Amino acid sequence: MKTMVYNIGQLATPLGTSARRGKEMGELRVLSNAAVYAEDGIIRAVGSQEEVLREHPLTEMDCCMDAGQKAVIPGFVDSHTHFLFGGYREQEFLDRIVGTPYLELLRRGGGIQATVSATREISREEMKRLGKQRMREMLAQGVTTMEGKSGYGLDEACELKMLSVMQELKQESCMDLAVTYLGAHAVPLEYTGRSKEYVRFLTERMLPMIRKQNLAEFCDVFCEDGVFDIEETRTILQAAKRLGFALKLHADEIECLGGAELAAELGATSADHLLAISDNGIAALAEKHVVATLLPNTAFCLAKPYAPARKLIDGGAAVALASDYNPGSCFSNSIPLMLALAVIHMHMSMEEALTALTLNGAAALGHADTIGSIEVGKKADLLILRYPSYQFLVYHTGVNQVEHVIKAGRILEGGKI
Ligand code: NIG
Ligand code: FE
Repeated sequence: MKTMVYNIGQLATPLGTSARRGKEMGELRVLSNAAVYAEDGIIRAVGSQEEVLREHPLTEMDCCMDAGQKAVIPGFVDSHTHFLFGGYREQEFLDRIVGTPYLELLRRGGGIQATVSATREISREEMKRLGKQRMREMLAQGVTTMEGKSGYGLDEACELKMLSVMQELKQESCMDLAVTYLGAHAVPLEYTGRSKEYVRFLTERMLPMIRKQNLAEFCDVFCEDGVFDIEETRTILQAAKRLGFALKLHADEIECLGGAELAAELGATSADHLLAISDNGIAALAEKHVVATLLPNTAFCLAKPYAPARKLIDGGAAVALASDYNPGSCFSNSIPLMLALAVIHMHMSMEEALTALTLNGAAALGHADTIGSIEVGKKADLLILRYPSYQFLVYHTGVNQVEHVIKAGRILEGGKI
């Protein structure tokens, strides 16, 4: 299938097949009066409209899209979500706002544990229905690739249910979905006081089983005070690495435990959250090329100080932005809010934020070679915005400006997945 997107007022994209680090994050390629030509979902030509159309005339196309002089950017890559869950925690959210700390709610058997009970109760069909609906909402905001974590089942049956539902969603959706096993999201209530046994259950039973059935590409751990400590995290991730999983880590979110340093030591693909990262941790991520995935909506919803984006970028690290969409710490999948917080409150430039949510998000999923930028050889995942330049993404604050989503060369109508 031949697709042409033409009459592009401004095309803005980072360039490369790996994460952009440090000051490279602010360097975008910006073209005016451009066109993009794709064949069978892969970009074959990008450049000035005149040249691209001369080589590939509109009359030869199966599918043409006039961008109407608006801006075109790469599809967004949301590399950290917990979008599959049962139930909601609206009262907990309000209790938190008036002062009960997040970890205190978890210690009382609420928080993640409340969602675990609700997720164990819903049927597979209901889980899939919810998952589909939430993926559609992401797609309508321009997310063409996302990640999803398990971790609200914790026991064997419900974790396998979550992972296999995500595998089905991946098959049936036009979106790309990366699946992460997060059995180490909390010690389940039935293992209270027996965390060592739970770690053994994860490493000896769950991880080999999930690997064998090929249900997840990443393994993640919530390394936090009162959840999994550094030693337990190391044990779980080492076992996962031996089995061939790529690694992610919820690191230094609320307490600074040295999660970033551990991510660097183990060669993780990304270390996520990092609100409380140390200077040492920043240096370790930069040195070992671990993507620092920042989740501004979570800091906002928890009313915590934002992760030190400037220090990370100025220290030479690669920063990605993601939503952390989940029913507890951040019941927000808003891409416009995330971009606004990153630029207005975390002092990232608009160019850095765009790189963070496209190419560096792709790198946080190990896919920067195939998605995340508008370049020959990459998947034709493009967004046509409502305005003539990418600067509007933050200037028109908190509002979805994605008018058309093109996924692998297909123009999606009405956010269908
Ligand atoms: O990334 N921090 C741990 N996990 C999620 C929150 C999960 C929840 O509160 O349900 C997060 O913020
Ligand atoms: Fe998370």
